[in-house]
Amino acid sequence: MRILGIETSCDETGVAIYDDEKGLLAHELYSQVKLHADYGGVVPELASRDHVKKTIPLVKQALADAGLTPSDLDGVAYTAGPGLVGALLVGATIGRSLAYAWNLPAVAVHHMEGHLLAPMLEENPPEFPFVALLVSGGHTMMVEVKGIGEYRILGESIDDAAGEAFDKTAKLMGLDYPGGPLLSRLADQGTPGRFTFPRPMTDRPGMDFSFSGLKTFAANTIRANDDDDQTRADIACAFQEAVVDTLAIKCKRALKETGFKRLVIAGGVSANKHLRAELAKLMESLGGEVFYPRTEFCTDNGAMIAYAGMQRLKNQEIMDLGVKAHPRWPIDTLKPLR
Ligand code: KG4
Ligand code: ZN
Repeated sequence: MRILGIETSCDETGVAIYDDEKGLLAHELYSQVKLHADYGGVVPELASRDHVKKTIPLVKQALADAGLTPSDLDGVAYTAGPGLVGALLVGATIGRSLAYAWNLPAVAVHHMEGHLLAPMLEENPPEFPFVALLVSGGHTMMVEVKGIGEYRILGESIDDAAGEAFDKTAKLMGLDYPGGPLLSRLADQGTPGRFTFPRPMTDRPGMDFSFSGLKTFAANTIRANDDDDQTRADIACAFQEAVVDTLAIKCKRALKETGFKRLVIAGGVSANKHLRAELAKLMESLGGEVFYPRTEFCTDNGAMIAYAGMQRLKNQEIMDLGVKAHPRWPIDTLKPLR
């Protein structure tokens, strides 16, 4: 079986074709980063309009790359939420229209389930059960995963998501949008230990997160110190260390509570090298293993939507006709596979 996947929930247009026997046959990605850079963040209306322009050409490109025609497909999957409502509606409208025109089933995919399952596209995919740390620009979540759709949220951010904290702190430091990867690169030049940031919410039990205080701490540290390159790098280093350490402490708690030995990290921030290294160290000390997607599938992409859509299609989860998007959609309301 083959499925087309369409992702348009935020500022990336992603299209991919996944075959349940041969794996990924094609994947196309267009990032709107340049479009939003001048505004220092995603402008929802511009994002929607750009998805309208880019989605169909990327669908054509994916089919051409895979050497397929629409008659070779068995379904069309699209991100139905969570995300920006206008951006979601573009993918939902195009996805459902193509499915209707090609006489195929349409599958509504949960964006965070897409992230959560992205490591399944790699050569050494994790087996169930596992703990998943989802760290993206919009969400930070610790999830107990027993199977597809068998999700229990162990903790989540009560304010800024981890990626959002990276981006906001990067902006304070004068870095371009999205600042997460740039801040991380700057941190590589920093001297560990010159500044120490707090580890929010680690002094009480539980697995919820709060990252907005770190941004304020960064603002105060910047104000209280000289604005030279080394100081900026040292602040970036301390900020990154605090985020990574906090995430690692909560992962350790989640693994202890569940008794699981496998940890999955996914979402944009899982591309962070320092985070990967720290979690690899943690899992080694616990005799377990950490799994993550290849870097290009950490951030938003069509491949993860095609993969998640295939699982739902095989489970015959064909939702009713009608274009619907769910800007807010709790992941623990998804159903287990039959
Ligand atoms: O998953 P994603 O593409 O979008 C959402 O679904 O939100 O995640 C994007 C986020 C941005 O906040 C970006 O700054 C962050 O992931 N990010 C990083 C890195 N690469 C991407 N944050 C820290 N270090 C990185 N290397
Ligand atoms: Zn995402």
